[in-house]
Amino acid sequence: MRAYDFPLFPEQASTMAAQVDYLYFFLIAVSVFFCVIIAGTLIGFSIKFRRTAENRVGHRIHGSTGLEVAWSIIPFAITMVIFGWGAWLFFAQARPPDDAHEVFVVGKQWMWKLQHMEGRREINELHVPVGHSVRLTMTSEDVIHSFYIPAFRTKFDVLPGRYTTAWFNATKPGEYHLFCAEYCGTEHSGMIGKVVVMEPVAFQNWLAETPPVVPMTGGVTTAAADSSAQSPAAAGAALFTQKACATCHQPQGGALGPSLVGVYGSTVTLADGNSVTADDAYVRESILNPTGKIVAGFQPVMPTFQGQLSEEQILQLIQYIKSLKATPPAGQGVAQNPPAAADSAS
Ligand code: CUA
Repeated sequence: MRAYDFPLFPEQASTMAAQVDYLYFFLIAVSVFFCVIIAGTLIGFSIKFRRTAENRVGHRIHGSTGLEVAWSIIPFAITMVIFGWGAWLFFAQARPPDDAHEVFVVGKQWMWKLQHMEGRREINELHVPVGHSVRLTMTSEDVIHSFYIPAFRTKFDVLPGRYTTAWFNATKPGEYHLFCAEYCGTEHSGMIGKVVVMEPVAFQNWLAETPPVVPMTGGVTTAAADSSAQSPAAAGAALFTQKACATCHQPQGGALGPSLVGVYGSTVTLADGNSVTADDAYVRESILNPTGKIVAGFQPVMPTFQGQLSEEQILQLIQYIKSLKATPPAGQGVAQNPPAAADSAS
């Protein structure tokens, strides 16, 4: 990125970038085409049909069915192409591939806090491997921000109290701009950073290296800061004990709350007869608003943890719950455990 560079379009550095640009060019082409036709006809007709004699009067036109059908059907067809193409692109950008490298993003006034699944944390910088999908699970600690990497054509709003997911697959090693694209207060313009795309081996080394101590401020307890090198799942396991979640959510079930083993990703039947898929949003809601969705067979006795956990801690707990797979612990007989685990998970 040289200072004298002033490209009309940002570099295309992800698998989606060209796709987004094609649609954009198509929209421009359609707009230019109609602009030229309409403006050209307007100017041409004002010259051709200008009043040349004092007593000249035009004759009236009483409709033209053919013309009306044409100007209804053609624009309809064009807008449907734009809709279909746009929807296809939107879904492609909204659905991350299963094997993606996972990164958590927390936006706050005015910085981006990121953490890789493996544990490494970053602030206003995101290191990713080239040629590998990266999935971002994003939330905000305060107001609405927007995570924008122009070179990847990735832009998703980051909202408080909700998870949004974005993904990209970077195609060229290098450094790219990262912006906040939603006005979020006085230092919105300073909420910037960079994305560093590395060769896979270099990235693995970077991921494994011991990071310099990152000072964490606001919303993060000292305990969480100490665990900066820990994976989110390990930090979540510690929190699970610290917040006494294990008292009611015992792995074998039978306590006040449902066992959480194997819950993540499963379909949970609720007390009101509805069922819900246990994803990030469901686990999050169950922590912050436990009486919102009561699991069938249980009482609404869990206290809320609203205001007691930072966004990062909630993500850690979710990662821990995700790691509780419905497999019998090592050393235990296969015969005795799976049915119980399966029961308590539902
Ligand atoms: Cu954050 Cu603008």
